[in-house]
Amino acid sequence: MLKYDYSGVLRDEGGLCQSEIDQADEGLLVARREIFEVDIPLMESGGAIPDEKNPLDTAFINLPRQLLDEYSENRSASELGQIMDCAAAIRSKVDRTVILGIGGSYMGARALMDSCCEPYFNELPRQERGERPRIYFEGNNVDNDASQGLLRLLRVDQGSAPLEKDWALVVISKSGGTTETAVAFRQFLREFEATVGTEKIGDLVVPVTGSSGKLFDLSESLGCQNRFRVPDGVGGRFSVTSAVGLLPAAIMGLDVVSFLEGAVEMTDHFRSARPGENSVLDYVAVNQLMEQRGVDVRLLSVWAKSLESAGLWYDQLLAESLGKQEKGALPLTVVNSRDLHSRAQQHQQGKRDKLVNNLIVGDWRSEPLPVGHSAHDQDHLNEIAEKTLPEIMNAAISGTNDAYSEDGRPTADILMPRIDERNMGQFFQMMMLATVLEGRWMGINPYGQPGVEKYKVNMNRYLGR
Ligand code: PA5
Repeated sequence: MLKYDYSGVLRDEGGLCQSEIDQADEGLLVARREIFEVDIPLMESGGAIPDEKNPLDTAFINLPRQLLDEYSENRSASELGQIMDCAAAIRSKVDRTVILGIGGSYMGARALMDSCCEPYFNELPRQERGERPRIYFEGNNVDNDASQGLLRLLRVDQGSAPLEKDWALVVISKSGGTTETAVAFRQFLREFEATVGTEKIGDLVVPVTGSSGKLFDLSESLGCQNRFRVPDGVGGRFSVTSAVGLLPAAIMGLDVVSFLEGAVEMTDHFRSARPGENSVLDYVAVNQLMEQRGVDVRLLSVWAKSLESAGLWYDQLLAESLGKQEKGALPLTVVNSRDLHSRAQQHQQGKRDKLVNNLIVGDWRSEPLPVGHSAHDQDHLNEIAEKTLPEIMNAAISGTNDAYSEDGRPTADILMPRIDERNMGQFFQMMMLATVLEGRWMGINPYGQPGVEKYKVNMNRYLGR
């Protein structure tokens, strides 16, 4: 299991003492009970919502278990079975897949690709990609050059064999009306018709959307044969364990069962483990207590390049969920040791408004790479020739934590045994549960994004809509 070690936060100056955390646990345990006993029955019964503070959209909590149960009872007819079948068909037919979506409709899939696929995945020959297509993300902006660049790329491989010529288009939008994604869908569909052909739309254009809306209607009219649902009661940024994250992950050839099992493990852990041993409760206690003291910049310091997108996913989750009512910590992802040479000076000796949560990986996937001996020792590296990159990374982690501690800066560690689908399932679920728990404890509804809705209205006005 992922572990949360907050011993670096227990300090007289600038930190917390254990008794404060123990006191907080009382309120957090009430909030946990309410999440399981109040929110979920409310959702299931479609019951009345007592007031706007009552968190809704809690269906993400049980979704991984529901999907797995359904799959073990009725493999091919279950939603997960259908997602896997559709993904397998796409993998066998095309060498490129474009995934359109924005915010919660793409950030989880991007994080899964960057963490669980090989580095430089798209650059590898097909065989070394395990016969999986290259993956591209668009529809997450209205950047002319980025869209034109990808459209150009899709025209490059116009060989005669279908595998080189054809590509698949997955469009993800819960509402079905988000401008960035809708505009990209129209533009990429036009390209699809020109390069792949209208007759293959039914097979190779796959929407993931709510049970009604513009994208739903459009996909009916286009005759898309595969369409997946964003389930009711699952909000955009809480949807990574639905088809929103699962379909792209399955197209990448990732183990989606293991991913969902990881999420289930974290929910069970959150439900049953006691404070002091419960990663979710402890994370919320530490981070929220620090925020109440004015330490309201929350750093997720990831010690692996492949976790940067997971950090950005959490930036969105925290910012859109709890950045309301003039409250909510400012999330910031840093990638180390890279950012030790850019931001770390400010974090260590700048304003005392930051809490560092390190995300530390235990075992690396590849063989540890040693520095190695050289006859040209002008760089004086022969003295650490036997050391490997994981050993140097561990020295950087310990050295940084010590340096922060010496300057009275609190740090906590999320320990991930290794980066794989199961652990990523645990990580996503841990952070989603923590966000909902923190929202309930602070009296903030973590679902919805009223501010973001205003920009959409204004943008449409400027567009004359
Ligand atoms: O978390 C959210 O709800 C948002 O970030 C949405 O995911 C984002 O705005 C995209 O919305 P949609 O999926 O409706 O296109």
